[in-house]
Amino acid sequence: MSGLRRLDGKIVIITGGASGIGAEAARLFTDHGAKVVIVDVQEELGQNVVVSIGKDKATFYRCDVTNEAEVENAVNFTVEKHGKLDVLFSNAGILEPLESFLDFDIERFDLTMAVNVRGAAAFIKHAARAMVDKGTRGSIVCTTSITSEIGGLGPHGYTASKHALLGLIRSACGDLGKYGIRVNGVAPYAVATPMTSHDEEMARQVEEYFENKGILKGVVLKASHVAQVALFLASDDSAYVSGQNFAVDGGYSVVKP
Ligand SMILES: NC(=O)c1ccc[n+]([C@@H]2O[C@H](COP(=O)([O-])OP(=O)(O)OC[C@H]3O[C@@H](n4cnc5c(N)ncnc54)[C@H](O)[C@@H]3O)[C@@H](O)[C@H]2O)c1
Repeated sequence: MSGLRRLDGKIVIITGGASGIGAEAARLFTDHGAKVVIVDVQEELGQNVVVSIGKDKATFYRCDVTNEAEVENAVNFTVEKHGKLDVLFSNAGILEPLESFLDFDIERFDLTMAVNVRGAAAFIKHAARAMVDKGTRGSIVCTTSITSEIGGLGPHGYTASKHALLGLIRSACGDLGKYGIRVNGVAPYAVATPMTSHDEEMARQVEEYFENKGILKGVVLKASHVAQVALFLASDDSAYVSGQNFAVDGGYSVVKP
């Protein structure tokens, strides 16, 4: 880590912070001086992340992002504990299996939309209310995906949900700018996390497969690379950046292989 602490004194909520990209961001953000509230449905994993970071820097709050009342409570908990909210990293998400459109599981689609879109919408709403209430010129960062920009790469429901999330980011950017609140997306290519791999062997296979498919050679995308871009968007280093969807994809989404 460089000597600069890019989130010194900032209060951050990270949804989906018990695992993968969110857990990596919790470590990086606290290294940079933030106090983090990890929001997730996986309580034991979330508590483990908190212990590994240190209870003085991180707290766990159990919340299902599909439940607006729980989302509001999570934001209230954060403001009561820390006095304000500077950054929301809305990162919780789910992925359904790849399937033919002819077999599209519409029930499952509802669940994907509820977590990936409705959950983000509720969190942006209540985080923005807390920021406006305290006069905080906050930063909201959402984990989208390169499937928010192009089709044919992920499951149908997931792709639709990430496109919708990008619409939400742009719409919120338009409305919240007048309060000094920035809203951006970070859009990763495939990363080996519990979302994409169940064990180390599968993680190795996922990395190998997507490294072969990728444009940029000699580097394997890790959760830490995504967290670094989320840090930039969360911090004042990106003070005039809003409404953007920052691809962390080694050029994949702009090159036809
Ligand atoms: N891994 C990838 O290849 C990849 C690529 C592009 C985008 N993403 C996005 O990155 C984000 C993080 O994913 P990850 O790869 O770290 O996966 P992950 O499964 O390791 O982490 C996702 C977290 O979200 C939590 N979550 C799920 N539903 C929830 C709910 N209803 N309420 C609260 N928390 C909930 C899970 O418990 C989990 O801890 C997701 O939005 C995902 O869509 C991942």
